[in-house]
Amino acid sequence: MWCAVRDSGGHYCPKKTDDLCGDVCGQESSQVSGMSRVRCILRGVDVKTCIFLFAVVPMCIFGIYLHGQKISYFLRPLWEKPPKPFHVIPHYYNENVSMENLCRLHGWGVREFPRRVYDAVLFSNELEILNLRWRELYPYITQFVLLESNSTFTGRPKPFVFKGNREQFKFVESRLTYGTIGGRFKKGENPFVEEAYQRVALDQLLKIAGITDDDLLIMSDVDEIPSAHTINLLRWCDDVPSVLHLQLKNYLYSFEFLMDDGSWRASVHRYQSGKTRYAHYRQSDNLLADAGWHCSFCFRHISDFIFKMKAYSHNDRVRFSHYLNPKRIQDVICKGADLFDMLPEEYTFKEIIGKMGPIPHSYSAVHLPAYLLENAQKYKFLLPGNCLRESR
Ligand SMILES: *[C@@H]1O[C@H](CO)[C@@H](O)[C@H](O)[C@H]1NC(C)=O
Ligand SMILES: *[C@@H]1O[C@H](CO)[C@@H](O)[C@H](O)[C@H]1NC(C)=O
Repeated sequence: MWCAVRDSGGHYCPKKTDDLCGDVCGQESSQVSGMSRVRCILRGVDVKTCIFLFAVVPMCIFGIYLHGQKISYFLRPLWEKPPKPFHVIPHYYNENVSMENLCRLHGWGVREFPRRVYDAVLFSNELEILNLRWRELYPYITQFVLLESNSTFTGRPKPFVFKGNREQFKFVESRLTYGTIGGRFKKGENPFVEEAYQRVALDQLLKIAGITDDDLLIMSDVDEIPSAHTINLLRWCDDVPSVLHLQLKNYLYSFEFLMDDGSWRASVHRYQSGKTRYAHYRQSDNLLADAGWHCSFCFRHISDFIFKMKAYSHNDRVRFSHYLNPKRIQDVICKGADLFDMLPEEYTFKEIIGKMGPIPHSYSAVHLPAYLLENAQKYKFLLPGNCLRESR
């Protein structure tokens, strides 16, 4: 124990090196009297040791209480290996290149007629992003399938938000299969169980919507928006991998804060009845590059942020109630900082350190969903330079 802080370096000797610590004192004490042995022990119990015990240790404990999650995230590269890298498929696109040539550039054939495409989502409350998504994909979708529950994944009651706003979406009405499901409201359950339950119900709803073998099915969260030209390519080309993940650009709060291009959970499947299951995890190694946008926490109202922070599957992240203070949330949005005051979830120290601190502002609004730019006034809050949100 007294080895813990030595005069010299002040470094900590773990158990295994006890011998080594002992040796330093041991050499003299074996030869000389018990007197110097005592002196040797006392030399260990010096001022630094006291400071260590009565100041540093309590501070460490307090620090771990405040920042425990951060510390464990920072140390993640030590205990977790990165997943197997994807096989990234280069993505070719220009509006003036023919479909035949585009398919050929990917090594795929072109079909005589396009496949039917189903877009299925679990809906919570993200009305604005849903509108952008459906407007972007509208020309190429056979059926839009939307399921909503009156329970969040964390088991809190919520209204059927889509049902109450359905008239905003008249433009898809003729191609919409809408379903609701009652929450189970199990207290203290892992949110992933409710989520899985809702995804199974979505499989049922897809059958009701009339999906058949060989149709394409987009599996993604509402805020993971494939670009229209990507879906058009996949429905026209043959020999596309039967399960293909989409690499999306990750944005936070709006298209002003581009985090990285690391979003991969969205996927497009060639439907096989009895085999295809709606999921939001990794299901293949193929990833099509630059296939759209993932805009997280892209809400118009501060109240929507608060709702989402509470409803989030990782709701253990709201560790302090002041995280939900509207003024703090507004400041965080304008800075491009983290709502939960967390460290980036990465697998190497280099990436963690590279991504620490706020996201730099982006001034590009090139290659964004067309409907967003056509309605820039309405969607101002999603464009660069407009971080102030409406309170409500
Ligand atoms: C792209 O194609 C359109 C119509 O096919 C044509 O009017 C336009 O000039 C082309 N643009 C470029 C840059 O080649
Ligand atoms: C949720 O919806 C189900 C079915 O629509 C209904 O029976 C139940 O009472 C609702 N629960 C709440 C808390 O709204």
